[in-house]
Amino acid sequence: MQDAALKSIRRENYAAPAYWISDVNLTFDLDPAKTRVLNRMRVRPNTHITRPEPLRLDGEELDLVRVLINGQGATFRIEESERGNQLVIEQVPAEEFDLEIFTICKPEKNTTCQGLYVSQGTFFTQCEAESFRRITYFLDRPDVMAEYTVMLRADKKQYPVLLSNGNLLDQGDLPDGRHYAVWNDPFPKPSYLFALVAGNLVCREQRIRSGVGKSHLLQVFVRSGDLDKTEHTMNSLMHAIAWDEARFGLLLDLNRYMIVAVSDYNMGAMENKGLNIFNTKYVLANPSTATDTDFFNIESVVGHEYFHNWTGNRVTCRDWFQLTLKEGLTVFRDQEFSMDMAGTASAKAIKRIEDVRALRTVQFPEDAGPMAHPIRPDAYAQVDNFYTATVYEKGAEVIRMMQTLVGREGFAKGISLYFERFDGKAVTCDDFAQAVADANPHSELAKHLPQFKRWYSQAGTPRIKASGWYDAGNNTYRLTLSQSCPPTPGQPTKEPFVIPVAVGLIAASDGGEMPVQFANEEIGQDGTRILTLTETEQSWTFVNLDTEPVPSLLRGFSAPVILEMHMSDAHWLTLLANDTDPFNRWEAGQRLALDRAIRFVKDNAEVQLDAPFVDAMRAVLRDEKLDAGFKELVLTLPSEAYMAEQFDVVDPQRIHQVREAMQQQLAELLYGDWIAVWNANQPAGGYQLNHVAAGQRALANLALSCICRAAAKEGMAVWEGKAYQRFKDADNMTDRLGALRALLACRSKLAQPAMERFLAQYHHEALVVDKWFTLQSTASDHDGDVLPRVRELLKHPDFSLSNPNRARSLISAYCQANPAGFHRADGAGYAFWVEQVLALNKLNAQVAARLARALDNWRKLAQPYHEKAQAALQQVASHTDLAPDVKEIITRALALPEQGE
Ligand code: TRP
Ligand code: ZN
Repeated sequence: MQDAALKSIRRENYAAPAYWISDVNLTFDLDPAKTRVLNRMRVRPNTHITRPEPLRLDGEELDLVRVLINGQGATFRIEESERGNQLVIEQVPAEEFDLEIFTICKPEKNTTCQGLYVSQGTFFTQCEAESFRRITYFLDRPDVMAEYTVMLRADKKQYPVLLSNGNLLDQGDLPDGRHYAVWNDPFPKPSYLFALVAGNLVCREQRIRSGVGKSHLLQVFVRSGDLDKTEHTMNSLMHAIAWDEARFGLLLDLNRYMIVAVSDYNMGAMENKGLNIFNTKYVLANPSTATDTDFFNIESVVGHEYFHNWTGNRVTCRDWFQLTLKEGLTVFRDQEFSMDMAGTASAKAIKRIEDVRALRTVQFPEDAGPMAHPIRPDAYAQVDNFYTATVYEKGAEVIRMMQTLVGREGFAKGISLYFERFDGKAVTCDDFAQAVADANPHSELAKHLPQFKRWYSQAGTPRIKASGWYDAGNNTYRLTLSQSCPPTPGQPTKEPFVIPVAVGLIAASDGGEMPVQFANEEIGQDGTRILTLTETEQSWTFVNLDTEPVPSLLRGFSAPVILEMHMSDAHWLTLLANDTDPFNRWEAGQRLALDRAIRFVKDNAEVQLDAPFVDAMRAVLRDEKLDAGFKELVLTLPSEAYMAEQFDVVDPQRIHQVREAMQQQLAELLYGDWIAVWNANQPAGGYQLNHVAAGQRALANLALSCICRAAAKEGMAVWEGKAYQRFKDADNMTDRLGALRALLACRSKLAQPAMERFLAQYHHEALVVDKWFTLQSTASDHDGDVLPRVRELLKHPDFSLSNPNRARSLISAYCQANPAGFHRADGAGYAFWVEQVLALNKLNAQVAARLARALDNWRKLAQPYHEKAQAALQQVASHTDLAPDVKEIITRALALPEQGE
């Protein structure tokens, strides 16, 4: 970092704490204006530290009233620190002692959604990563684990429900209409897992019995009126509990497990021990307010937070550089959970494709830009900025590669050994990788462990170049793979990775799967084999191939890499039509589309789709053996963001034009097929939530929007009428929104009345109103019409900058999910971004810092976008009161890029 004002901390400087805290006793007198917190701790010096050090406790925005050691007034001072301040006590007893700290905070003034805050009259906390220090002075770091006992006191009428972690020990009434509750969490935990909730909430309850016969109470707390939207969340929780028991033998360890929904929230959800706090977006759903995607997201987030109970809570991180230890592993677990819940092979593949699509649209650009960092970063200024797609999603891919290298059973053994060794401890990524390798001593992982761990230390997306040569005389096929990785900030050169490449062979002649037999093997094997690429370049020879094979590489996306493979269209078409690996079938279709898009963009030529491509797409639509959901994915063109990834110089407007034109042609050229698809996928009976039905809805909605596009050009209003009818009559949000999108996509006259009707109908459903805003902020741009509308919506009575979901639905959606609307030649999109980043900077630095990332990859933009984006970044950088979170993002974006060798 060039800016001296922005200090970063480094992983290599980790030092154990000078003191430990074993017990924490907190008493809260809750009052929105002035909450009093009495914090009594048992503290003891860390005996491994020989030189006596002062006790330094972190605090932020606290009014300190008193400090007592063993009941006596203590001498202390306050020092400013990077974030907030530190309470420094030079003289402490040599033996264990009682430390009592009394502070006051102001929850209703807190707009950050961190620490203790008020949302719609209810108290909530969010402590990860470093916000417990906004509640009381503490050793606010994850390697300090303590047992918490918490007394909550509040007005009984306004705050009838008082919750904290663990078990309810006592509750009762107090004078003056107040009441209290006492909670104890028997599991020692780091401060970031502390939580409390106090307010007027109702709950859905469920008693369950675990496999070993223990009884548990599950509760989902929401505002009154929302109970009818909690059934799916409760079901998801029960499924998650059963799944972790079945797949990994991990049991629920608490008598009571609570989930609470909050509408003002910076992220998705938080795994506080026994008291998960969730963004309403990932709790509230019924068919009339939530789409299929919303339902599936809830299942995965509920699973994610539940799985943290073991991977994160029972075993936690030693320091925040190890964040992927819990996040990468837990994302991997929630992905596996969702896949297992999906059931059929096709539904599993769809989930995998969606995960990979997300990785490519968000994580690949991150790895190619100024924020690129290894999944275990070496330095940061603000840890909040490192809750990234790299730490989460790429982190999950690294875990997945481990599973591939040791096998599914071997991986479960590794997990068991990990808990055997580290239950109750705060550990590192090295500890995890070592446990998985030690449980599988003869595996490829154990063999290459130090090299494999480069995935933890090197940033950037590796590229694999593949080339093959078929020797018809000897019936052999020689495959050569080479790897390289571009420079990233602070890492000009890279060492080779260990890359598992899943491979199969498909006959070029008839599309049949061919047995894979290596030169040193007696017989071949059907199906997928794993090649372990460890060198810069390596070759493999396959034998006994009496016809030419088409290689199907990186099946199931076996590694988070970019595969550069130059094959003829004919071979890609063979894979699209025949690959037994559904992921690669989809991938072949995407390649064919991407190749065409790249050509149209580069040649600046008129978009004209060729017959072989259109015929192949038609064949997929007509294939009776394929699921509707899979067809929908194949027929959906790669996103503008993923297309942009393919260029060194990006022209977002040209990419948008090309993609729109390709979509229009697919709509027109396959018109009859789209109608057939629409007719074949009509709802039968009421709404059902399962992957087959959801796939049919997805395909029908894609068909409807294609038909409307094609029909609009022909001036046929009848289809718009049908879409409007579907919009009105649909018995679920997926179809209602699908029809609305179709009307918007073809710029129908009926779109406007439909939008008005939609808002009137769902005015009291905040999550649906968010969708209404996003429909407009992400609308396909025509002659710059999106920005003026977005500016108008800023003044809409339902808009609010302080509600993170609402702010994201309009502002972030426009800046980060509408490239052509945002990257305007006149720079007006960037001017809007400057305004909003600065407005949010004062209100909520976390949300501001995420929005700030919209211009991360400005260096790749063509002119005039490039210079206008740079000017916008400089304008933000010149502000004197930037929150450290925002400052870090802007400073990195403007830093000079790393040069390769
Ligand atoms: N640990 C949470 C999760 O991934 C992430 C999270 C929730 C978070 N709220 C946060 C991270 C606030 C930083 C700040 O499950
Ligand atoms: Zn998580």
